[in-house]
Amino acid sequence: MSINLKNSKSFNRLEKILIIGNGGRENSLAWAIQKNELVKKVYLIPGNAGSARINKCERIKIDINNKNELVEKLHCLNIDLIVIGPEIPLANGLADFLRKKDFKVFGPGKDGAKLEYSKSWAKEFMQDANIPTANFWKVNSLEEAKKIIYSSSLPLVVKADGLASGKGVFIPDSKDECFIAAESIFNGKFGESGNVIVLEEKIQGPEVSVFALCDGERYILLPTAQDHKRLYEKDKGPNTGGMGAYSPAPILTDDYLDKIIKEIIEPTIDELNKKNIDYKGVIYFGLMITESGPKVIEYNCRFGDPECQTIMPLMDQNFVCLLEKCSMGNLTGVEKIDTFDKVSGCVIATSKGYPHEYKTGFPIKIGKIDSSDCQIFDSGTSLSNDGELLTDGGRVLSIVCQDKDFDMVFEKAYKNLKEINFDGIYFRNDIGHQVRRKSSKEN
Ligand code: AMP
Ligand code: GLY
Repeated sequence: MSINLKNSKSFNRLEKILIIGNGGRENSLAWAIQKNELVKKVYLIPGNAGSARINKCERIKIDINNKNELVEKLHCLNIDLIVIGPEIPLANGLADFLRKKDFKVFGPGKDGAKLEYSKSWAKEFMQDANIPTANFWKVNSLEEAKKIIYSSSLPLVVKADGLASGKGVFIPDSKDECFIAAESIFNGKFGESGNVIVLEEKIQGPEVSVFALCDGERYILLPTAQDHKRLYEKDKGPNTGGMGAYSPAPILTDDYLDKIIKEIIEPTIDELNKKNIDYKGVIYFGLMITESGPKVIEYNCRFGDPECQTIMPLMDQNFVCLLEKCSMGNLTGVEKIDTFDKVSGCVIATSKGYPHEYKTGFPIKIGKIDSSDCQIFDSGTSLSNDGELLTDGGRVLSIVCQDKDFDMVFEKAYKNLKEINFDGIYFRNDIGHQVRRKSSKEN
């Protein structure tokens, strides 16, 4: 792939980086990016109250939908690389727009983001490429859904086709529940995202997250991770955006990861090429390890949250160079990331009521934190007029620690959590239970 060296945003200028997004994910990206000494400034649009605590970081107040103002500002700031965090701007084609304006962008165009914003398209994509995934039906009406639900001998899950902030998947216990879920989606629970639904065979097994940084042709993998999606301990209760995570996921041995590369990762990238999709960004493979092998549960066109907060502290200072290489199409595919032989874990502190209704605006008190190899990334916070840190989201803080083993990681994370308080704070005590020898009672 040729590189236009005449371009003013030329090779290796990495002084000013812009990150779009406002969560813990974007703060952790900023934290990893600023480690590189070439980087002088990291801007976040819009970021959150925690962004300004990160070295070299500054928040910018601007509406990304106001395209002219955005481009003017980015030129004015002399931005060298743009990293787009969330799926919505990617699905709306922001990466395409900024590339056309000659910016280097890490994040797929609208065509690549379709892997996430249309579940039925992603399923057909997998079918075309022979990528293992659960059997499925793309369904356009409730009538059709009813026929499939009541005639199927398989237990099914129900998914809204489009983006639904992680809430569009139902795992019913009976055919009637399945029908009710389909009905609620067709009745407009998720607006246009529910014009089509996907009915899918329910499969079983542990879930893992694998991230490939992709330059359009080549890729490199980040350390694997495992997320805890359920609200309550012992992985019970409703699905959330993620209550905690750990990395790497020891369930993925080198041999098993090789199998995933051959059966899933490389066929995905080949199929993108076949469909002329120039994917420059991260592909998030949400996988289930079933008895019959690994299967794709979902693709996302962004980093996972809280997997990203968990993985970023394991990155060496070249991370930003990898993102830039992806944006320019010049990865070699053999770059190595030095994780310093450490493992990482993250516990999310949420507002009472999350993932349903919750109140915000409660003052956050942070006591004496053991900050060696520990980061607190704000997920949903704001500042009061007096500069006091307030809760401002369902997921409020990501407490992330690294150490030589997971027992040490989670001991430190939970010790630090004892120093953090806000009205209604809730977190799971058993994050990482799969990889801890000490039980959560010993925290
Ligand atoms: P998704 O948003 O597609 O990742 O789905 C959310 C969660 O629903 C996943 O993390 C799984 O725990 C569960 N899930 C999704 N699809 C299936 C399936 N086909 N079988 C069993 N569980 C599923
Ligand atoms: N951790 C799940 C997600 O980001 O979708």
